[in-house]
Amino acid sequence: MYQAPRGTTDILPAEQRFWAFVQTTLAEAARAFGYARIDTPLFEDTGLFARTVGQETDIVQKEMYSFQDRGGQEITLRPEGTAAVCRAYLEHGLHNQAQPVRLYYLCPMFRYDRPQAGRFRQLHQFGVEAIGDSDAAVDFEVIQLAMECMRRLGLEGMHLVLNTIGDAADRPRYLAALREHFRPHLDHLGGDDRRRFESSPLRLLDSKELAGEPLMESAPKSADYLGPEAQAHWDELRGYLDAAGLAYALDHKLVRGLDYYTRTVFEVHPERAGAQSAVGGGGRYDGLIEQLDGRPTPGIGFAMGIERLILNLREQGASPAEVNPRPVVVAYRGAAAKAAAVRVAGSVRGLGAQAVLAPDRSLKGQLRYASAIGAQRVLILGDAELAKGTVTHRDMATGDQREAALSDLPNLLAG
Ligand code: HAM
Repeated sequence: MYQAPRGTTDILPAEQRFWAFVQTTLAEAARAFGYARIDTPLFEDTGLFARTVGQETDIVQKEMYSFQDRGGQEITLRPEGTAAVCRAYLEHGLHNQAQPVRLYYLCPMFRYDRPQAGRFRQLHQFGVEAIGDSDAAVDFEVIQLAMECMRRLGLEGMHLVLNTIGDAADRPRYLAALREHFRPHLDHLGGDDRRRFESSPLRLLDSKELAGEPLMESAPKSADYLGPEAQAHWDELRGYLDAAGLAYALDHKLVRGLDYYTRTVFEVHPERAGAQSAVGGGGRYDGLIEQLDGRPTPGIGFAMGIERLILNLREQGASPAEVNPRPVVVAYRGAAAKAAAVRVAGSVRGLGAQAVLAPDRSLKGQLRYASAIGAQRVLILGDAELAKGTVTHRDMATGDQREAALSDLPNLLAG
């Protein structure tokens, strides 16, 4: 028997209330901050991600679903949203609109990751991007929106982890310091880490093998290597956070798993945090649009994993309202009544209510079916009702039955 591919999940009707709650709540939070929805294709040219996310990142090295289509194009199922949104921003001339442009998205992403709790190969992200403004107040806005999402979802104990990784111009000095720090230990590093030491030493701070090692704790801090502009930006942002009473922990090892970041980077973690448990993360990417051959354009955003949010909601005992239909079931006794029941089901739908025709079995079996699908009321038609032009209304909660004229259906359903 076929099964869903490893790392993918079916979202069955019983789980839809969690998805509806999270998606609606996040979209409303984004709109409250002035963000408009954007949807981009499920796949893009492979080069878009290779160029922006970074050659040395796990995403590009190991996790992309890439293939050649039948026309010989190199295609990748999108592993993240930022590069695609920036591509759309350039392609459709959104830089000609009032800046910053505020956008949000809610869509599936694909990463050939090792599946485990909260880690999937098809995952869903809610993300926002504010493109075209370098003001630290926009960094604050984006972080505030991330925490507002937690508040609106009712998630407790989510905390903010923050770092700055400076501007591109500050980077060479910092990378040199990192190399100095790790060089004496090169022999102890794994193959991946030795390669990163050469090509992308910032990634060493993200290394899974080195996580928790004293060598990591004592590594030079990017915040100590900021140029004057990045320093002023960082100070201004922290001023806004402090003024708003928005608590955060500084973590100088937080560099994020993607290469396009500059200055502010942040993640949101649940209380009992494991390395993989970030529910969301983001940061500033002031060089990304230029990498895509656009004019220098600053940007900042974040994305959250919907599956991880739902995992935390479940752990905290959340119980969102049911979204599945609770239709009126139209039951019948006999062939003539069945034909009438088909018409009555249509009338019920015409009145704006949900209706299903009961399956063709005994009346007792039809009532059992109605109860099993959660119907609150059943309309029953038999020869007696047909002769009188009536219908019997059964309240499934109480078992009470009463007869009413078919012409009175609107009042019956409203009651
Ligand atoms: P990211 O940290 O790679 O950032 O992903 C954001 C969130 O997506 C993670 O915090 C996690 O909740 C979820 N996520 C990532 N991978 C998986 C997975 N395999 N299974 C389940 N959930 C996962 C980005 O994608 C950036 N584009 C965020 C951003 C937007 N930066 C600026 N703007």
